[in-house]
Amino acid sequence: MLLQEVLDGLAVEKNSVVVDATVGGAGHLREFADLLSEEGLLIGIDADPAALERAEEALPTTKATLLLIPGNFRDIRDHLEGREVTEVTHVLFDLGWSGFQLTAGRGFSFLVDEPLLMTYGTPGEETLTAKDIVNTLDEDKIADIIFAYGEERFARRIARAIVFSREEKEIETTKELATIVKHAVPVWYRHRKAHPATKTFQALRIAVNDELDALRDGLEGAAKVLAPGGRIAVITFHSIEDRIVKRFFESLQRDGIGKPLTKKPIAPSKEELVENPRARSAKLRVFVKS
Ligand SMILES: C[S@@+](CC[C@H](N)C(=O)[O-])C[C@H]1O[C@@H](n2cnc3c(N)ncnc32)[C@H](O)[C@@H]1O
Repeated sequence: MLLQEVLDGLAVEKNSVVVDATVGGAGHLREFADLLSEEGLLIGIDADPAALERAEEALPTTKATLLLIPGNFRDIRDHLEGREVTEVTHVLFDLGWSGFQLTAGRGFSFLVDEPLLMTYGTPGEETLTAKDIVNTLDEDKIADIIFAYGEERFARRIARAIVFSREEKEIETTKELATIVKHAVPVWYRHRKAHPATKTFQALRIAVNDELDALRDGLEGAAKVLAPGGRIAVITFHSIEDRIVKRFFESLQRDGIGKPLTKKPIAPSKEELVENPRARSAKLRVFVKS
């Protein structure tokens, strides 16, 4: 996604120390690997261990030193310090889920029937899942999540339908939830282009992974380890995330730490939109440290 735009914005050099904080399908990582020489260091982070396994297979011949770190990018500083990396020159955050995760049985898609997990990493016994949220939180809390993180106008109706339905039977799968949502919203809303459960699923995923705070923590950590002249690029997929990035870069500018590279976010080209409809909502912002 926004591959050339990221490469232009980051301007990686052959001896750079690059962190790809969201390895995913390793698309960006592969490009960084090609740009780096033996003097370069390439660090890949992902909460999903499967993404790192794929990256290892995708990069058997990179000249740069490669470090793959399983974990949350919100702890980027600890991850780097733990590997004795004290300064980096480039960081990329390409937020959200990767195409691989849509078919990984984690419950990100309502198009296939999967358990309602929505975690990026493999969930442990203590991990909060979307199933926990819809089956245990009270109606107001569910409505607040769907409204705040999904900007869903029918959040209250959907929350009411979820609570009504779970009294009959625990909600266990994506299709069960998608059907509940579909029947909770007005008929005209069911027949729009986007599936009526799109915003509800986005909201639950954000809540399960504490995505907004993870983004804030990740950005702060990245800004701290960034070398002078270093750059951070962030690709977001909805306005809530984009606002966080915009405000964070503005706050760094106010503090004299650096400046955003462009005032407005960069959008995908028309060609990319034809090839990849998901790119529709993607926005790229780049920050340069002084
Ligand atoms: C959109 S994909 C990245 C795609 C990648 N840039 C590519 O070119 O293939 C996002 C990835 O970020 C990971 N991710 C999302 N939030 C994360 C977090 N807080 N910490 C670590 N990884 C995260 C997901 O597991 C997913 O693999």
